[in-house]
Amino acid sequence: MAKLRVAALISGRGSNLQALLDACRRPGFPAEIVLVISNRAEAEGLKRAERAGVPGLVVDHRSFADREAFDAALDRALRAADVQLVCLAGFMRLLTPGFVSAWPGRLVNIHPSLLPSFKGLGSHAQALAAGVAIHGCTVHFVTSDLDAGPIIAQAAVPVQNTDDEASLAARVLEAEHRLYPLALSMLAEGRARLENGRAVLQGRGAADRMLFNPAD
Ligand code: GRF
Repeated sequence: MAKLRVAALISGRGSNLQALLDACRRPGFPAEIVLVISNRAEAEGLKRAERAGVPGLVVDHRSFADREAFDAALDRALRAADVQLVCLAGFMRLLTPGFVSAWPGRLVNIHPSLLPSFKGLGSHAQALAAGVAIHGCTVHFVTSDLDAGPIIAQAAVPVQNTDDEASLAARVLEAEHRLYPLALSMLAEGRARLENGRAVLQGRGAADRMLFNPAD
């Protein structure tokens, strides 16, 4: 079966991109990364793409008059590469409703919290301030509302009483690197899809969309 053609949109470090690239190298993995787009030329993730032999493209948001024009350029690049699914992986720009509605069920994001808790920036600081015992990450379909789309998969990690933002972020990031490839394989095999504004999960893995790490 043909592999799903995936693009990753990044702005920085690209460790989630790396997890997806590594997963795509596994024999039989149902997706391939065919394009990486960064809005920042200095993003470390572009080097990861290069090392993996995947085309990297810089679309600098500052070269465009407005968000619509920037998103139109993204859209053109994605369509020119026959991309079927877009994975946001640390992409620090808000996408316009026009762009989001042009990729229904084909645009996903990873957020470092158990949504709907702790949306937006600083999710680890928010979790520590709230005093939760369990934190984690979420892969979700993107809608026009920030960090609010239908949930595909989540991973939970414990919060330890010695944690600071950095230690908690590191624990969540490890979970992110396991969760995003899992969610991508579900999407690529049609086991996770968007229907009537809800994430529909089916078949093998539908029960695995929750990873829990009680030990750390
Ligand atoms: C991750 O924590 C991701 O959940 C969030 O931004 C961070 C990106 O890190 N959206 P990286 O660039 O993938 O290393």
